[in-house]
Amino acid sequence: MNKDLVTGGAGFIGSNLVDQLVQDGDEVIVVDDLSMGLASNIPTSPKVTFYEHSITDHGFMKDLLLEEQFDYIYLLAAIASVADSVARPYETHQINQEANIFILETIRENKLPIKKVLFTSSAAIYGNNPELPKHEDSTIDPLTPYAIDKFATERFVIDYGKLYNIPTVAVRFFNVYGPRQNPKSPYSGVLSLITQAAKLQSAFTIFGDGEQTRDFVFIQDVIQALELLSKKSEVIHQVFNVGAGQHTSLNQVIKVYEQIINRDLQIIRKPERTGDIKNSYADINSLRKIGYQPHYDISTGLKLYWESLTD
Ligand code: UD1
Repeated sequence: MNKDLVTGGAGFIGSNLVDQLVQDGDEVIVVDDLSMGLASNIPTSPKVTFYEHSITDHGFMKDLLLEEQFDYIYLLAAIASVADSVARPYETHQINQEANIFILETIRENKLPIKKVLFTSSAAIYGNNPELPKHEDSTIDPLTPYAIDKFATERFVIDYGKLYNIPTVAVRFFNVYGPRQNPKSPYSGVLSLITQAAKLQSAFTIFGDGEQTRDFVFIQDVIQALELLSKKSEVIHQVFNVGAGQHTSLNQVIKVYEQIINRDLQIIRKPERTGDIKNSYADINSLRKIGYQPHYDISTGLKLYWESLTD
């Protein structure tokens, strides 16, 4: 039986991953300080142990790593909001970079026999590079503390892998959406904000003309990608875009949502946000080559997201 560590396992993506790992029969240990996540997101199962702790507690993390001898480590704990990283750059650095390097360092120093360490980075590292689609080799333009730390940590993860022979891999998430996504901040993912507006029957604000596009990828497709990347032992020391490989405009999203809920959404239009990117989507050929196939188009994914709220 595999033993897995999921940092950030109480969050949106982390907790969906924990669900899957438990279904696979793994024993899962979650470390999360609940700064963004919710304890109620973590499945109650004898196979899951939850530690409410920050990954910046080095003593705790070292003891845990030495004691548990994990097979798989999924690094998802982070300040996940770009806006938060701008407000708290040093704290972001300590969490998003230093704590992760400390984990790698502990593995290196103690020669821990890990099967795979998977780090989660972001499409934010491409910044304003207008090239479309974004390929893993596209020019990067990290514009915020968030993007800088994500990119640098990706490099550390790959380099620790190559230099010290640790099986590591990194992913760059595009716009992930689905059940348990937290709509709490105005900078939360746009699909969680639309979903919340639909649920509360409140107004949703579109910034700009609504023709901006994003590569919206449903959480179950993301979980498929994470499983493939961790379980394929030959896939190491590489970074992969994780998206649906499609781009959808906000105006299209609104139409799809109105069909799902069978009524019109209240829309307020405001000027474009400064710094907003017009179009973004992922080249997912590297991921396809290892067997990834996205199964959820935007209408299927949004319908499942909507239904998860009304259950
Ligand atoms: C994502 C990040 C953002 C970061 C950017 C850098 C998230 C949630 N956002 O933004 O912090 O700076 O990558 O690559 O991770 N929108 C509306 N109404 C709203 C909310 C958003 O019209 O209420 C628009 C935005 O202006 C944007 C689009 O929807 O044009 C998507 O927004 P968002 O979900 O924040 O994603 P990104 O723009 O990709």
